[in-house]
Parts: sequence; structure tokens; C-alpha cells
Amino acid sequence: MNSYEARLFSVDAPTSNLNDSKSLPLRAQREMRALLGLLREYHIDSYYHSHRVAAYVNYFAAQSRVSDEERVKLVCAALLHDIGKLCTPLEILDSPGKPTLEEYEEIKRHPQNGMYLLSDVLVEWLGEHSSGILCHHERWDGTGYPQELTGEKIALAGQIIAAGDVIDVITSKRPYKVALPYDDAINALRKYAGTQFSPKVAYSFLKLDCINPDLEDLHDSLKSCMAWKPNNQPISQAGRSHTQLAGDMRVAS
Ligand SMILES: [Fe+2]
Repeated sequence: MNSYEARLFSVDAPTSNLNDSKSLPLRAQREMRALLGLLREYHIDSYYHSHRVAAYVNYFAAQSRVSDEERVKLVCAALLHDIGKLCTPLEILDSPGKPTLEEYEEIKRHPQNGMYLLSDVLVEWLGEHSSGILCHHERWDGTGYPQELTGEKIALAGQIIAAGDVIDVITSKRPYKVALPYDDAINALRKYAGTQFSPKVAYSFLKLDCINPDLEDLHDSLKSCMAWKPNNQPISQAGRSHTQLAGDMRVAS
């Protein structure tokens, strides 16, 4: 375990305030806002999903000993983790049934497509965290995609985003499923630790009792460095009363 990982899994450390961070360069801010603005226009459910996953990842990182800069990058990678869905046809994203084999092959391209959409500036700024976009569907046992990586070969950011991702997928309403209780998500993390998920990441999430992290916290955290502007639009499709979209990303003028 390197020093970054050691701090990330030191969940009892005092937290610091992301608002103090000035670590997001203006050009990276603009590119992130532009990409997320496109996702919002293209597929609003994926846009909201990305924010909720980022909220889980932020909650996880906020309880760790990572620096503000590392936390900002991890959270930004979470915000962008599904940006490759901009390249997935809408009829597949909104399909009410189980995807066909052909459709599933198309869906499986979104991690790589996401990487293609990131500019060199954004990749350079995100550093190792950009791998979270490529690796968030890898599984600990090597049965994930796109590279079928196993264990620690999966980038840490990918391991963390994968856990946040599954919490939101299980607890959100989708065209093909109803929203399930948080207990189901917690049980899934416990049950699939060591097969689907990194055991260390899964148990760290469980230790945090990571239930109902407030999107307000995410937005407050990012407000100062990303010019977040509230619009108070509810995430009604998730069927969860505690989630309200308190912020919206605006393309920088
Ligand atoms: Fe994804």
C-alpha cells in the first residue's frame, strides 16, 4: 500500500475542507463543465447518476486522509466516469428491457469512449485518477470490462468509483428496474467484496456507513473551484426523497 492509499483508507482522520482547494485549473474546469453540459443535454439520467456517484466518492474521500487536491481529482473522475455514454445510442441507454448481446457490446465501449473524449489537459490534470473512467467496470475477479483486469491491476480510482456506481445503480430507478433500498446496496458490497469489488474498498465503504450522502455536500465542496450554481431541480426519477439536485454546472463564460 502506497502512502496515498494509506491515507485514503485511514477513515478516522480529521477531514479537511475541499472549498479551500484551488487545485482545479481554469482550462480543466471549462472542459469538465462543457463535457458534463453535453451529458446533461444528451442523457439527463446519466448526468444525475454521475453526480450521485460523485457524491458517494466525495463522502468516501472526505472521511479519508487524502489531500484536497487528490479528493478533487477523484471526485472529478467520478463526475466524468460515464461521459463515454455520450457515444452510446439513446435507444440503448433508454431500453426498458435487458440489452441484446449486440447492445451490450455497444454499452461496453463507454469506458474507452470516455477516455477518448477527455482532452490531454484533463487527462494530465486528473493524473492516475483518469483511469477511474476506464476501469470503473472492471471486476476484482477479472470478469469485468474493458480489459478484464484483476485485483490491484485495477486503478484505485476505478475500484472506488465502481463501489459508488453500484450503490447508485441499485438504489435508483432505471427503465428496466425499480429503486431498491440502501440495505440492498450495502448487502451487495458485502456479498461481492473480493469478486466484483476490491475487498478493501468495499469494507471501507461499509465502515463509513455510507448511506444517504447529501448532494449538497458535494456541491458545497465543489462550489468554490467549479463555479457551481444551484437550480434546485429534484432528481425525481431516482424515487428517493433525500436527493435533490442542488447544483448545476454552467459552462464558463
Ligand atoms: Fe459506467
